[in-house]
Amino acid sequence: MKLVNMFNTSYPDTAYKNPLPCYLSVGHKIFLRHPELYYIPAFLHTKNAVLSIPAKLNLCLCCNQGDAGKILAEVHEKLAEIIAPGITSLEIDRKGEELIRNAGCIPSFKGYEGYPASICVSINDEVVHGIPSKEHHLFDGDIVSLDAGVIYKGYQSDAARTHGVGTIDAEAKRLIEVTKESFFRGIAFAKAGNRLYDISAAIQRYVESQGFSVVRDLVGHGIGTEMHEEPEIPNFKPKFGRGIRLKAGMTLAIEPMVNAGSYDVWMLEDDWTIVTQDGKNAAHYENTILVTDGEPEILSLN
Ligand code: MF3
Ligand code: CO
Repeated sequence: MKLVNMFNTSYPDTAYKNPLPCYLSVGHKIFLRHPELYYIPAFLHTKNAVLSIPAKLNLCLCCNQGDAGKILAEVHEKLAEIIAPGITSLEIDRKGEELIRNAGCIPSFKGYEGYPASICVSINDEVVHGIPSKEHHLFDGDIVSLDAGVIYKGYQSDAARTHGVGTIDAEAKRLIEVTKESFFRGIAFAKAGNRLYDISAAIQRYVESQGFSVVRDLVGHGIGTEMHEEPEIPNFKPKFGRGIRLKAGMTLAIEPMVNAGSYDVWMLEDDWTIVTQDGKNAAHYENTILVTDGEPEILSLN
């Protein structure tokens, strides 16, 4: 079974490649830090039907991943203030990196699999992983997704927000709001004892009820001392299974990527930028959360 359709070969044009996102490197690593948090994923991990080995389950209550989240929340709050027509995506990246380093953190994206910046800045039809550039100016009416990750004392946090630039139309506004709301619909199910795909299904149900679509080729992820850990967290209900059972202490990056039109995406020639195939807008909203026996904690939102 394929969880994520990374290898769809239906792209029509050599100018584009299919999505081969960084999530491919998620998992397959074993850490022995908190054995009580180990699990055996209930899904077959690759299309070759290799059963995934017991994998580390992200974080625990005794390690302060929460500080990384708090700092990242502030970085996003400050970046929101500089979003305005005229600014370039490179200026946003520079400011973001400065905020992250001044808080004593490392920008986790910089150099990750060769990614050249600290903040992913994705404009309009760019879904995620837009590369900051001095050529990319924000215009009135654009929407812009900012994705950032920090490492603080060895612990990772990852979060994304989508903003309107100047005055945006009602449909763009609704896309941003639905994307954010879908995250909250999803984490309502992030409780010990529930199944992972309860989260996925709730996100998909809400997004589709609003007439938008969830991207299939990119997923959320566990997060701990690595940015991308198991499990993969699709924003749609996979065909088979219900996903792993959630346990208190898991830290997850839940990140709906929502397209205004169809869910199909392409990767640009830069090997990073993911864009909608139909050229319509896309939005992204992400937080690092902690599963508990009660309500989940959102670590990257103050
Ligand atoms: N923030 C992305 C994620 O949510 C990863 C960014 S890829 C990077 O998983 F290369 F930019 F770091
Ligand atoms: Co993420």
